[in-house]
Amino acid sequence: MSQSLISMAYIAAAILFILSLSGLSNQETSRRGNYYGMVGMAIAILATVLNPSFTAYGILIIALVVGGLIGARAAFKVEMTQMPELVAVMHSLVGIAAVLVGYASFMDTTSTLTGSEKTIHEIEIYLGVLIGAVTFSGSVIAFGKLSGKIGGKPMLLPARHWLNLCMLIAVIILGYMFLKPESFCCCSGSGLIPLLIMTVIALIFGVHMVMAIGGADMPVVVSMLNSYSGWAAAATGFMLSNDLLIVTGALVGSSGAILSYIMCRAMNRNFISVIAGGFGGGATGGTAAVIEGDVTPVNAVETAKLLLEAKSIVIVPGYGMAVAQAQHAVNEITKLLRGKGKTVRFGIHPVAGRMPGHMNVLLAEAKVPYDIVFEMDEINEDFPKVDVSIVIGANDIVNPSAMNDPTSPIAGMPVLEVWKSHITIAMKRSMASGYAGVGNPLFVMENTRMLFGDAKETLQAVLKELNK
Ligand code: TAP
Repeated sequence: MSQSLISMAYIAAAILFILSLSGLSNQETSRRGNYYGMVGMAIAILATVLNPSFTAYGILIIALVVGGLIGARAAFKVEMTQMPELVAVMHSLVGIAAVLVGYASFMDTTSTLTGSEKTIHEIEIYLGVLIGAVTFSGSVIAFGKLSGKIGGKPMLLPARHWLNLCMLIAVIILGYMFLKPESFCCCSGSGLIPLLIMTVIALIFGVHMVMAIGGADMPVVVSMLNSYSGWAAAATGFMLSNDLLIVTGALVGSSGAILSYIMCRAMNRNFISVIAGGFGGGATGGTAAVIEGDVTPVNAVETAKLLLEAKSIVIVPGYGMAVAQAQHAVNEITKLLRGKGKTVRFGIHPVAGRMPGHMNVLLAEAKVPYDIVFEMDEINEDFPKVDVSIVIGANDIVNPSAMNDPTSPIAGMPVLEVWKSHITIAMKRSMASGYAGVGNPLFVMENTRMLFGDAKETLQAVLKELNK
């Protein structure tokens, strides 16, 4: 394949990646967006393999078979609820790849670069290894936290911001030593020692940054690591002089940064302090409120009666709906109630579930019409006019203490204000807390009714009653 054909293939792949991203921004076009991405990636791989300068087909085939098998196994085995963990693992692979490519480029003895070109290449290596190492260790810790292998409580070291500042200053000084090793006798004329020390510092920074994040703030970290992995890939592209990798990395990096910004706004957190590691204030380190009061349980018959008496109903799904795979039962009930002339709408919190858009994907799969699905900001004001709110396996995203308890670990996070509706029916299996490990006063409020049990089974029982 000639070089100009390869460049054309790279441009086509880059355009398809951009179309893919724009397709993924909307539920109706997201399937098409996925196809664009797949075709773009296939073109990119083909163009890379057919590059005349590429000869290592043996290694490539082994890597494709091993990587393909692991990827296919993960895709079949991983549950929808485990997706964030999988994404975190994938980010860590991008990070470690950037580190390895950086070291390989540094040790490449065939390089003929001199003068300013050599300096620019060394800066690319230094930055690539730095971003890659932070992404790698941060993503490994994020995986541990998301999978429950590491506790969700934030680890807030005393003077942690000073520690971060010291690490930043050390990285800058080491960068200078890396570029001018001949000026420092401790470097023995080679930039390897400063590069190694910087890598260790970057790994520690990644661990420290994510360990400082509390449970409910993890969505922001996942999207931020997504952005970091994009920049790590872009840095790898610079080191390898691969335009497509630079463009793709920049697309992932910038879209991840935009998502992080949106998440920060949704969680009422400061974007800059997230990027710097940790959330600055003490809110994430608060203690969970102890909930006192009596719950009012209801059964499926009473729930069906409340729904039949209501005119305006809002359904708030959360992580438990995903666990129970209750979305189809939810859709059946929605169809039935709408058929009876009731106004049924959905309220979606930006961090409901375990990944961005988690609830939208499940509702779309169950064929709930898009036009009755509203974002938190669009529906929150309406709750005082709502007769019945049904909370299906959600907890943190409907917790009033986020708004009225400044000591709560989730203080400041906007939530769906379901308690303002006339009656709230909360469906879950027990009084256990949600992801953030915080007690929820909603469950003991006077106008709250608790419908205990697995969401799918209880909804099916309610549906049976509604059909009678
Ligand atoms: P959670 O606060 O985690 O609450 C889910 C509730 O579902 C639990 O209290 C659980 O109570 C209930 N549940 C579990 N299985 C169930 C089943 N089979 N049937 C019925 N109920 C069931 O979820 P949420 O309200 O959606 O909030 C999301 C949380 O995850 C936030 O803290 C958010 O920050 C965090 N998070 C989000 C993301 C993204 S990007 N969305 C990523 C990482 C973390 P029982 O055990 O009593 O049933």
